[in-house]
Amino acid sequence: MKFENVLVTRKEPVALVFVDRPNKLNALNRLTIEELHAALEDLDADPRIKAIVLRGSGPKAFVAGADIAEFAGFNSKQGRQLAAHGQETLFDFIENLGTPVIAAVNGFALGGGLELAMACHFRVASHNARMGLPEVSLGVIPGYGGTQRLPQLVGKGRALEMILTGGMIEAEKALEYGLVNYVTALEDLEGFCLKLAEKIAKNSPVALLHAIKAVNAGFRSNETGYQAEIQAFGDCFSTADFREGTTAFLEKRRPEFPGK
Ligand code: COA
Repeated sequence: MKFENVLVTRKEPVALVFVDRPNKLNALNRLTIEELHAALEDLDADPRIKAIVLRGSGPKAFVAGADIAEFAGFNSKQGRQLAAHGQETLFDFIENLGTPVIAAVNGFALGGGLELAMACHFRVASHNARMGLPEVSLGVIPGYGGTQRLPQLVGKGRALEMILTGGMIEAEKALEYGLVNYVTALEDLEGFCLKLAEKIAKNSPVALLHAIKAVNAGFRSNETGYQAEIQAFGDCFSTADFREGTTAFLEKRRPEFPGK
C-alpha cells in the first residue's frame, strides 16, 4: 500500500512504521490517522509480520500532537466527533491490535503524539525525547485517551501534574515514571526496538494476541472514562479559551485566555 503520510518498511518477521510528515513534526491530521489505521490493519493481517515498531520520521519528533490547524475552527459537536473517531480508528485500535506494537519515541511526543505512544503496547525513548500533554495551553484537554492512559501508566498524581501544567518531561524522567521502559541514544533507538520486536516475534502469535487481550481486559473499568473524555473534549470547543488558544498557536504568540 502507498501512503502520503505513513511509510512502512518490512523486515520480516517485524515491520517498521513511520509517521511521515516531518515538516509538520508528524502532527496527526485526519489523513494520517486513516493511513496509520490502514497500514497497521494490513500488517496485522499478514501472518509473516509478528511485531511492529512505530516511530516518527526525522530526528526531531515522534509526533508533535493532533494537527492544531485542522481542528482550530471546530465546534463542540465536531470536537466530540474528532475525539470519538480518532479513539476508535487509531488509539483503541492499536491498544487492542493482536500484533504487538512498540513505540520508538524519537523526539517530541506531545498531546496526540504522547497519546499515540501510550496506546502502543510499550514505549522506548531516545535521550532527546520530550513528552507531555500540552492541550490545556490551547484551551482544550487530551481527547485521544490521554486522561485515562497516562494515570494508568504513571499514577494519578503524576498524570494530573503533567496534564494540568501542560509541561514536558525529559526521557530520563519518563523512565523514572515508567512511561517508557528504556532510554537509548537516538542513533540506537530503532535497532534497539527492532531487537525487542524480534524477540517478541519468536513467541506464539496466538499467545501474544491473547496476552494483550487479557492485560487490556483488566483496564475495562475505564471505559466510561474514555466517554467522559470525549464529552469534555467536545465541550472545550465551544469556549472562547479554545478559540484564543488555537489562534495564538497558529499566529505564533502567547495566548491570553478570557477564562471562566
Ligand atoms: N499541529 C499542527 N502543526 C504543528 C504541530 C501541531 N500539533 N506541531 C508542530 N506543527 C508545525 C508548526 O506549526 C510548524 O509549521 P510551519 O513550519 O508551517 O510554521 C512546524 O510544525 C514546525 O514546528 P515549530 O513550532 O516551528 O518547531 P519548534 O522546534 O519551534 O517547536 C514544538 C517544536 C513541538 C515545541 C512546537 O511545534 C509545538 O509546541 N507544537 C505543538 C505541540 C502541541 O501543543 N501539541 C498538542 C496538540 S493537541
